[in-house]
Amino acid sequence: MFINYGKCGIGKINLELKIIGKCSRCRRGNAIINLRYAKQRLCKDCFNEFFVNRVRKTVERFRMFKPDERVAVAVSGGKDSVALLHALKLAFPKQDIYAFYINLGIKYYSDHLERKVIELSENLKVPLEIYDLRDEGYTIDDFMLTKYGKKMCSVCGTIKRNIFTKLAMKVKADAVATGHNLDDTVSTMLSLFFAGDFEGIARLKPVLKPLIKGQPRKIKPLIMTPEIEDLYYVALNDLPVQECGCPHGEFTPIKGIKRYLDMMEEEQPDIKFRLFSVFRKKFVPLVDRSREEIQEKVVECKICGMPSSNEICSKCRRVMELMEIKSGKEMKFEVSFEEVESMLREGNVILLDVRDKKEYDVYTLEGAINIPADEIERRWRELRKYRKTHKIVVFCNSGRASYAVTMKLRNLGFKSYNLKGGILSVQSS
Ligand code: AMP
Ligand code: FES
Ligand code: ZN
Repeated sequence: MFINYGKCGIGKINLELKIIGKCSRCRRGNAIINLRYAKQRLCKDCFNEFFVNRVRKTVERFRMFKPDERVAVAVSGGKDSVALLHALKLAFPKQDIYAFYINLGIKYYSDHLERKVIELSENLKVPLEIYDLRDEGYTIDDFMLTKYGKKMCSVCGTIKRNIFTKLAMKVKADAVATGHNLDDTVSTMLSLFFAGDFEGIARLKPVLKPLIKGQPRKIKPLIMTPEIEDLYYVALNDLPVQECGCPHGEFTPIKGIKRYLDMMEEEQPDIKFRLFSVFRKKFVPLVDRSREEIQEKVVECKICGMPSSNEICSKCRRVMELMEIKSGKEMKFEVSFEEVESMLREGNVILLDVRDKKEYDVYTLEGAINIPADEIERRWRELRKYRKTHKIVVFCNSGRASYAVTMKLRNLGFKSYNLKGGILSVQSS
């Protein structure tokens, strides 16, 4: 069985699951998954059972919610939160579970994910609440105009966290569950450690109590689940999941510390679990103890009412900054084919085809060069000589992968534009 995650080239993962012997649990089925840390090789059914059981045990062990409580699950359409909603529903069939999705207004991305989340919640018969940032008059893409343009994931995280709380309160949930997995948690712990942000580490608990009474607690039922197993779970169960990564995200799904942890795992299969346990049991209590003396002040944000350490919370401050800039400027990262033609007449334009080499060889725009989307991270330097002098028009078939490349090039200081609708729009016109 082949797993093709992030088919469009952005955040691509290709894996093959092969039969590796008999299942160590049922002894009948063909094992396809090797859990080295548990010294087990499991077949599909036993893996599913193992996965769901671990979610159940994690919830119980950390007392994440009680049987009579309402749990709101934040579903992004990515592998982690899709696996989370599915497994929670199986582990707690009687629980009052709600799903919510935030449409961040990211082009070629957010609407696609919304369709996946609707499909999943319909299949599972879970009520879904959708929140659209455009109704507030802005999108995450708009932040490209601001000083946060180089830190899109961070500003996006601030906005999302604020809305999670708001939505959970709207549906009267006692807990908000997110899809953060073991790898996310351990890699964040390490990077906060390197940055000396020990209080940040103390916030990475499986259950985070609300800062203001009456608000929901935040829970992470996948905190003991290695990231790769979320991918196995969605693939084995054929769940609707994103096909293309976020245009503002990194091009490779595993980077920096995560890659380093994966390397360590080769020699020590349980390293992620061990690190998590050391941080949680030894380190966090130390930080918590020293923090008790400094009581942080928490107030309600004057604008949105969510918990904040200042009169106006960081989300509202960022949105205010954006609105001021936005009123004077138009976002112009996409161009039509007619606009490309006139840009070409003016000169100093590079046409960049980011489709596969095969597609490029069959047909491309005249004069276009080819760097496939999944090679950009490695090869963007080939374009460096044009950074000061040329505009770069990026295209793929639909405009989706090329939009992500356009954003990446913008962040690297290029004047890049996406061909709206991709090459298909040129051929059909
Ligand atoms: P991320 O910070 O993108 O890795 O997301 C972490 C978790 O936040 C996911 O596993 C989801 O549970 C939740 N999440 C992220 N984006 C959204 C979204 N657009 N709508 C709802 N939940 C989200
Ligand atoms: Fe937030 Fe990509 S989903 S920046
Ligand atoms: Zn606010």
